[in-house]
Amino acid sequence: MEKEIKKIRRIGVLTSGGDAPGMNAAIRAVVRTCIQYDVIPVGIYRGYNGLINGDMEELNARSVNNITGKGGTMLYTARCDEFKTPEGQKRAFDMCKYKGIDGLIAIGGDGTFRGLRALSETGVNTVGIPATIDNDISCSHYSIGFDTAANTAVECIDKLSDTMQSHERCSVVEVMGRGAGHLAVYVGLSVGATAVVTPEYPFDFEKDIAEKIRSGQFNGKRHFIIIIAEGTHKTDEIAKRIQDSTGIETRVSILGHIQRGGSPTARDRVMASRMGHFAVLKLLEGKTNRVVVYRDSKICDLNISKALEMEKGIDEYMYRVTQDVSI
Ligand code: ADP
Ligand code: F6P
Repeated sequence: MEKEIKKIRRIGVLTSGGDAPGMNAAIRAVVRTCIQYDVIPVGIYRGYNGLINGDMEELNARSVNNITGKGGTMLYTARCDEFKTPEGQKRAFDMCKYKGIDGLIAIGGDGTFRGLRALSETGVNTVGIPATIDNDISCSHYSIGFDTAANTAVECIDKLSDTMQSHERCSVVEVMGRGAGHLAVYVGLSVGATAVVTPEYPFDFEKDIAEKIRSGQFNGKRHFIIIIAEGTHKTDEIAKRIQDSTGIETRVSILGHIQRGGSPTARDRVMASRMGHFAVLKLLEGKTNRVVVYRDSKICDLNISKALEMEKGIDEYMYRVTQDVSI
């Protein structure tokens, strides 16, 4: 791309919603791509709060030194209810004018993109980048942070598996996902779980868990791993029912926020860098109200409204494999 095509002079970048490993690599890519194309990058702190309150500063190539391998986000993140109101959006627009921000890149999930769409209606050029460990952003087959979170969960469950094996117990593990089972299924398949409970599929305790454990016991299996996607069923209750109906001793582990931290995997670093670079190019091409997506092994962009209307179910084939190999 020729440097002459740019019209935008200052691009703001922020992270919003739950953090995800790889956000820093995306920030770095945005900042350095801006500099490559003679645009001034501005780091906005604490999501839309920082945009409304002018909590921002110009960044340079050195501001983003050595952050690719770090989890979290150097710009901090927040949820901002004020930005959901027309008054909050007007304040954000006025702040963009005042600070000379003519393009804004927000790294987050669907909520963050709704915010961007509202802002683009006021005249600010906007592009979103999908980042959440839940991988529940419908428009994109991949979201930054998912790979790291999945690997973290797998590492934790492998450790649990060692002690469950020694004591011939059943481990009931709750993973994150905010109402979606992508992480649960992916992790369940990786660790060889006996059952995975997700919000997307109906769940029959007797058939999907108890019978499988009994049949495993009959075949000589001595320890079991059951994965529960958060928010589907009460994990403690499922563990108690397993113990009562099969006789195996159970232990519950809720992995929680540990899944959101840690050094991003190579996949997250690469995806985040590509998406950050791509987002800047889209703004320089004069595009607005777009979201960067990964679809069919390609990075491309979609209109935010269309993107928000899309639906993404769980990977049915992966779920089936999980079921078929869990005997
Ligand atoms: P995520 O971006 O991960 O889905 P949230 O749903 O918490 O996370 O949204 C992040 C932020 O995006 C919210 O705190 C709010 O500032 C903004 N936001 C969410 N929904 C809207 C909306 N409908 N209109 C404007 N801004 C929104
Ligand atoms: O969206 C990411 C996520 O970690 C979900 O998996 C989880 O439900 C939620 O955020 C937790 O949010 P909080 O940061 O408010 O604890």
